[in-house]
Amino acid sequence: MNTCYNPFSLDGKTILITGASSGIGQATAIESSKLGANLIITGRNESRLNETLSQLKPGNHVAISSDLCNADDLKELTTQLPSLDGVVLCAGINETIPVQFCSPKKFQKIFETNFFSTVELVRLIIKTKKVNNGGSVVAISSAGGNFAINFGNGIYGSAKSALSTWCKFLAQELALKKIRVNAICPGMVKTPLIESGAISAEQLEQDMIKYPLKRFGEPSEIAWACIYFLSDASKWVTGTDFLIDGGYDLR
Ligand SMILES: NC(=O)c1ccc[n+]([C@@H]2O[C@H](COP(=O)([O-])OP(=O)(O)OC[C@H]3O[C@@H](n4cnc5c(N)ncnc54)[C@H](OP(=O)(O)O)[C@@H]3O)[C@@H](O)[C@H]2O)c1
Repeated sequence: MNTCYNPFSLDGKTILITGASSGIGQATAIESSKLGANLIITGRNESRLNETLSQLKPGNHVAISSDLCNADDLKELTTQLPSLDGVVLCAGINETIPVQFCSPKKFQKIFETNFFSTVELVRLIIKTKKVNNGGSVVAISSAGGNFAINFGNGIYGSAKSALSTWCKFLAQELALKKIRVNAICPGMVKTPLIESGAISAEQLEQDMIKYPLKRFGEPSEIAWACIYFLSDASKWVTGTDFLIDGGYDLR
């Protein structure tokens, strides 16, 4: 028996992960390093980014702090990147905003991080040919907007819906270069995004009981799906919106 057989291995792959200073991005970095990836991790908060770096299994890893909403930072980040086999687009923000408060300014703020900066980063890395043929791009979208419509989630859900749709166009065009593009749509996952007060404790409790599996997801459970899309196990998969929601969509 070949004990090294593992179609999910990331051995020798160089992978960029945005939003790696926290939550799902951090878990994806840690789990990917266990499977042999060399990582470029990015986020704004340098000390939290270094905390992620310190938790990675040994490899050729680099941390680059960068505000993806800042055009100069984006260009600088792109310049510093080596050739990539994978990209995980995880940076994102959330805010609960009822419709009557959804001003253009609020739309701009959430779309800037969750959609425009992500789109621009991919444009820059594709234009500068940083992604190798056979590479994989994974965007962390959301069940919100794509599969679930929840009160106050209109701007966030619209941005994630735009992101998922854009990934399909990207998948079609980049298939010419044998680069795959997939989106992952998580339901509620236990990270600072939902635990830092943007959603009330009462709302979180009400939401949790609607999940057939009676719990929210763990960041590592999303990381493992990222690993599938980054690995050769998914090399015939592109243009999908993969829902991971503990059965929430069954309601
Ligand atoms: N948690 C959930 O329930 C859930 C569900 C569905 C989808 N998602 C999506 O999953 C992704 C990760 O979320 P999470 O739950 O892990 O949240 P999180 O713990 O708050 O992490 C968000 C990450 O995004 C980074 N980020 C935010 N704005 C940035 C900017 N302008 N420039 C660079 N980095 C920026 C943050 O880094 P710094 O603070 O260091 O800048 C942090 O690393 C997001 O796209 C989110 O929308 C989350």
